[in-house]
Amino acid sequence: MKKFWFNSLFTVLFFALILSTSLLLTGHQAANTEKEQQKTEDKEKKDIQVPPPPLNEDTFPCSMCHADMETNLKRRELVDFHDDIILKHDEKNRWCMACHDTENRDMLHSASGELIDFTESFKLCGQCHGPKLRDWEAGIHGRRIGEWNGEKQYLLCAHCHDPHSPKFQKMKPEPAPIKPGKKK
Ligand code: HEC
Ligand code: HEC
Ligand code: HEC
Ligand code: HEC
Repeated sequence: MKKFWFNSLFTVLFFALILSTSLLLTGHQAANTEKEQQKTEDKEKKDIQVPPPPLNEDTFPCSMCHADMETNLKRRELVDFHDDIILKHDEKNRWCMACHDTENRDMLHSASGELIDFTESFKLCGQCHGPKLRDWEAGIHGRRIGEWNGEKQYLLCAHCHDPHSPKFQKMKPEPAPIKPGKKK
């Protein structure tokens, strides 16, 4: 009789041990997959890093002024402010609000209305310039520094192209170097 009790107690303990180990293991596994997922997300974020967009305190944040202003959708020459902005970018088909958000002036938006932060303006450009965006991501267009298979930093399209007049301005080439020993 004593032996029977001892045996059942042993069996119960044995199964309890198995159950708790397997619970521990699955918990561990779940934590691991979460960790892996976080790792890939972090990696994707790290892969496209950009310096701050070339905005300045005179105009950004836009909500300084626009939070209390009615949006005027009329296509017009701006005179009270932004008179330096002359749109020369497919301007026959679009005006300011094709890219800037009406409700939240501190943001850009995609054609489908999704908000885009100024730090990710390349997403906006990429909607219409898909092949250029792909070249840019691959480091063929624009400028990318860092490791080919690790952390990289990109210049935004807007660091080189004025979004309002994106044609790359012609540069005056530097004079050729003077040959050593040759007098001017
Ligand atoms: C110092 C105040 C001020 C700031 C800051 C400012 N704006 Fe404006 N903005 C104006 C004024 C004033 C007008 C109207 C100009 C006119 O009608 O001649 C205007 C007009 C505009 C318009 C034309 C449509 C409309 O609502 O009238 C756009 C687009 C615009 N601003 C975008 C921006 C963006 C984007 C920023 C931030 C990057 C910004 N603004 C920051 C004052 C400001
Ligand atoms: C093709 C998309 C596009 C259109 C159209 C557009 N913008 Fe912009 N705008 C941008 C982007 C992108 C930036 C951010 C540039 C940066 O990161 O410095 C910007 C920046 C600005 C800024 C802040 C920098 C500056 O130049 O003062 C103002 C103000 C502004 N836009 C106003 C306007 C107004 C007014 C119009 C219409 C006349 C307009 N934008 C049309 C994409 C656009
Ligand atoms: C809604 C579509 C659209 C978006 C968004 C857009 N573009 Fe464009 N872009 C065009 C079209 C159409 C042209 C050709 C017509 C023109 O040059 O005006 C063009 C022309 C250009 C050119 C060539 C200009 C030239 O004359 O050589 C550059 C550079 C450019 N875009 C850069 C940009 C950048 C940078 C952005 C993001 C800030 C951007 N584009 C966003 C449609 C777009
Ligand atoms: C480091 C500066 C730099 C960056 C960043 C950059 N570009 Fe350019 N881009 C240029 C130069 C320079 C040219 C002119 C090349 C030429 O005329 O041959 C150009 C030309 C273009 C053209 C006209 C191309 C053509 O074939 O006529 C488009 C469109 C364009 N860029 C879009 C973009 C977009 C979209 C981005 C961001 C995803 C971007 N660029 C980022 C420097 C840059």
